[in-house]
Amino acid sequence: MSRKIIAAGNWKMNKTAKEAVEFVEALKGRVADADAEVVVGVPFVCLPGVVEAAKGSNIKVAAQNMHWEESGAFTGEVSGPMLSELGVDYVIIGHSERRQYFGETDETVNKKAHAAFKYGLKPIICVGESLTQREQGITAELVRYQVKIALLGLSAEQVKETVIAYEPIWAIGTGKTATNEQAEEVCGIIRVCVKELYGEDVAETVRIQYGGSVNAANAAQLFGMPNIDGGLVGGASLKLDDFEKIAKHNK
Ligand code: PGA
Repeated sequence: MSRKIIAAGNWKMNKTAKEAVEFVEALKGRVADADAEVVVGVPFVCLPGVVEAAKGSNIKVAAQNMHWEESGAFTGEVSGPMLSELGVDYVIIGHSERRQYFGETDETVNKKAHAAFKYGLKPIICVGESLTQREQGITAELVRYQVKIALLGLSAEQVKETVIAYEPIWAIGTGKTATNEQAEEVCGIIRVCVKELYGEDVAETVRIQYGGSVNAANAAQLFGMPNIDGGLVGGASLKLDDFEKIAKHNK
């Protein structure tokens, strides 16, 4: 298996543009020898400075959201061409906070995934169940549904380039990490789902991350599970020491 581990930071609504540049300048040297692909997902206003600061390093840059239209009357939104012109590599799509607080649905996630590819960005698509849904025993059904709608109409080649982040909502920002087995089980279910839709080759190529209270202490074991190809990291990605350690955990 030759999938490259991806350690992606999701900064959420943290750090000013100046703080972001300082952080990435400091991070560059620390992760230069990391085997994992290192990504920082930063607020929109931080993108120009962070892209500039990351130039010549192995750090890739992600936006945390995008609109699916190219331009138009969508006050407060940012489009694909705006991001790709800056040199942004990835875009996080359908994070549970966006679904919960900003009304995103599986259908808008799908539109955004198409838009990402149209404008040369790679999507990191987030899926995951709430605590109630887990307790009701519908995790597998729900996550499979989310994945199927998110990928609808994407080509096999596009899905190979997609990153899917399995983020159980009950584990996000709670310090309550899923066990290695729980995370592995659902990442495996996602891979089987991709296999059913696109075949073995695509399923073995697509990278599936775990997210939810990943930290310097638990990253190695999580990333070492067969179906977990890295992490989408919130809180711990804001701290240099922690994120460095996470980025240096390999399979
Ligand atoms: P957390 O956030 O690592 O702070 O739990 C993860 C995420 O929301 O992507």
